[in-house]
Amino acid sequence: MKSTCRVVSGALLALSSACTSAPMNYMVSHGPAAASERSLGWWLLIVSAVVVVVVIVLVVAGAFYRPRDRAGESLERTAAHGGLPWIYIGGLIIPAAILIVSFGLTLGTLHATTRPPTDPAATIQIIGRRWWWEVRYVDQRDPTKTIVTANEIHVPVGKPVQLEISSDDVIHSFWIPQLAGKTDAIPGVTNVAWLQADSVGIYRGQCTEYCGLQHANMAAVVIAESPVAFAAWEQAQQKPAAVPTDPEAAAGLAVFQKSACATCHAIRGSDALGRVGPDLTHLATRLTIAAGTLENTRGNLAGWIGNSQSIKPGNDMPVMNLPPDDLQALLAYLETLK
Ligand code: CUA
Repeated sequence: MKSTCRVVSGALLALSSACTSAPMNYMVSHGPAAASERSLGWWLLIVSAVVVVVVIVLVVAGAFYRPRDRAGESLERTAAHGGLPWIYIGGLIIPAAILIVSFGLTLGTLHATTRPPTDPAATIQIIGRRWWWEVRYVDQRDPTKTIVTANEIHVPVGKPVQLEISSDDVIHSFWIPQLAGKTDAIPGVTNVAWLQADSVGIYRGQCTEYCGLQHANMAAVVIAESPVAFAAWEQAQQKPAAVPTDPEAAAGLAVFQKSACATCHAIRGSDALGRVGPDLTHLATRLTIAAGTLENTRGNLAGWIGNSQSIKPGNDMPVMNLPPDDLQALLAYLETLK
């Protein structure tokens, strides 16, 4: 008996720790938008569970304890036996009260999640592409300071940021479960949402509208950092890529510009202005490549450039047959894009 208890409590402990550390667990919130959704989620879960249990108990009780002489009696006869108030209470008043309270709480949550921040710390455009997220920090006063990156959204901790979400191809849906609910990314439409991270950390998100072959490999992360770290990141990202001084990296830049790379990718500060794939100006600062599919390491980049189709079939990047020396030079150059 003791060992069974130990196994059960161990399993519960493992389950609860797995839940709290699971990055997509929407029952954990780290910001006000997610917190109001989490409270509503718990209310709906608990109230539904209670209703299901009460109904099952009543059905079972009714099946077993109904007096024989009253089986199959009409509503009029039930009323005659004094049962009508229970039908009104259990069938009308209690369900109506639960639905009205749930409706009120849902309206409150809607208000909290759609309320745009009055003074956002940043306005960030998020554009769904098959199958990655373009992320743009548009500087209205000085367009040369506009930041373009992919799949990683830096935000200052404790401050709301406004998100302008759209799509370049099909319908996607942007979702960072522990920070904010789902917002559809629709071509030709800009949906405004907001989020705020209350503690420093990395929050994983996922495209949550089926958008084709690599829907599952369309992740994004929000990186919440101190306002000082965020300002430093912003300043660094606004700069164009540095011209490489190392001979191998310089050769890599030449490879980039003369090969198919520059047709699809942009690197500010070079001649590459492609808009098909992610902007690579500060590629080396990113944690992952291919929208969260691979860690951003030299080896993974080499594999990705060589044959991305074997890693993420169906993506827009062609198989590149670069000579080994060119590939090494290109990798050396990409590593300088800090
Ligand atoms: Cu994009 Cu699913």
